[in-house]
Amino acid sequence: MENDKKYIVLGDDYKGYPLNMFCVPKHYEDDLEHVLIPAGLINDRIERLAREIIQDFRHEAITGLCVLKGGYKFFTDLLDKIKALNRNSEESVPLAVDFIRVKSYTGTTSGEMTVTGIDNLENLKDKNVLIVEDIIDTGKTMIKLLEILQKYNPKSIKVASLLTKRRASGTGFKPHYLGFEVPDKFVVGYALDYNEYFRDLNHICVINQHGIEKYTTKK
Ligand code: HPA
Ligand code: MG
Repeated sequence: MENDKKYIVLGDDYKGYPLNMFCVPKHYEDDLEHVLIPAGLINDRIERLAREIIQDFRHEAITGLCVLKGGYKFFTDLLDKIKALNRNSEESVPLAVDFIRVKSYTGTTSGEMTVTGIDNLENLKDKNVLIVEDIIDTGKTMIKLLEILQKYNPKSIKVASLLTKRRASGTGFKPHYLGFEVPDKFVVGYALDYNEYFRDLNHICVINQHGIEKYTTKK
């Protein structure tokens, strides 16, 4: 049967690859369960997402909005692929970039969130905004972010996320462009962090208990 989903689903029984089959920094060797998505596969999947984005936007300019910090690798790699297509095909899409930082405050019942822009968010008025995020977990942050950005009157807003987590207790939010749906495990690497560690790992991996304890902020 043909897969009609527009993203790759990694099932709960999928265990990826053993660590010793790939190059992983020595300082993380004891902290990871397995390699979930090797860097090469991430790269190939992003190339395909870039093609879909170009086809959808046709000649309309896009403002790529990177959600820092976790989104920075996906953002630069996705934009590089879009730029390569722009150089080498009949159709091309003008690109502008912008960056935001999103902070959620847990422990507050209202689920407060602040969004800080590097430039003034008023710049998004009348633009086709493409939000670029590393992971959508519960979906709550993204729904809130969309609500906030709508106030700046962009022409359109779409969301590209490299990963979403499959979880029972989420909002079920699905981005317009998605790389992979992953099991409900804590993943790190390719700019995804655990307490600021593991951003310097190029594959997406599942952290193990040793890693969680080693890099916990509660001591
Ligand atoms: N890894 C890193 N950051 C995250 C995750 C995850 O699994 N879920 C939400 N933010
Ligand atoms: Mg993020």
